[in-house]
Amino acid sequence: MEKEELLEQVNKALRSCKKCRLYRTRTNTVPGEGDPNSKIMFIGQCPGFHEDQQGRPFVGRAGQLLDELLASIGIKRDKVFITNIIKDRPPENRDPMVDEIRACSPYLERQIKIINSQLIVTLGRFATEFFIPDGRISQIHGVPHRVKGHLILPLYHPAAALRSGGVLVELKKDFKTIPQVLAGEVEVKEIINTKVPENQMNLI
Ligand code: URA
Repeated sequence: MEKEELLEQVNKALRSCKKCRLYRTRTNTVPGEGDPNSKIMFIGQCPGFHEDQQGRPFVGRAGQLLDELLASIGIKRDKVFITNIIKDRPPENRDPMVDEIRACSPYLERQIKIINSQLIVTLGRFATEFFIPDGRISQIHGVPHRVKGHLILPLYHPAAALRSGGVLVELKKDFKTIPQVLAGEVEVKEIINTKVPENQMNLI
């Protein structure tokens, strides 16, 4: 089966998903979008108001910044795949809960397998902790990690960069390394011990 068809199966399952409380308050589920053959997959936190309205990831202010950052390295948004850890908007844009992340993780894991990108860019704390549970984004942003066969580049979340000029500077700088990471020109940190504490979220 083609990647598009496989992704559509995920999308279809998500549209009728009731595995956690978030289905009750969603307008649209937000599975993700983009080029299924892309070398890069971006994973954010969860949909916000505009994403929930449109059923598309990163279409609000954070999305605008993400588009600009992509343009800064000569990549068009439709040439990458963009998704989130959580596919439905949490009410009032609160942080996702651990049980919601657990419930949603099989969808993300399936997308990761189907797309099989060379690089996964995690945007923010939640996406980063999904792969590197004890990773502090303030310490490991911009450092590529190899986790269970996946090449992960943790970056600050664009929404955090909209709130802090300092974070924006770091995010812009880290973003510029993406082509070098893809070209294998940046040293990769190997993560060997990926033990997840009981109360923590799932790990791929
Ligand atoms: N923030 C996210 O983490 N994801 C989106 O899709 C939009 C904003």
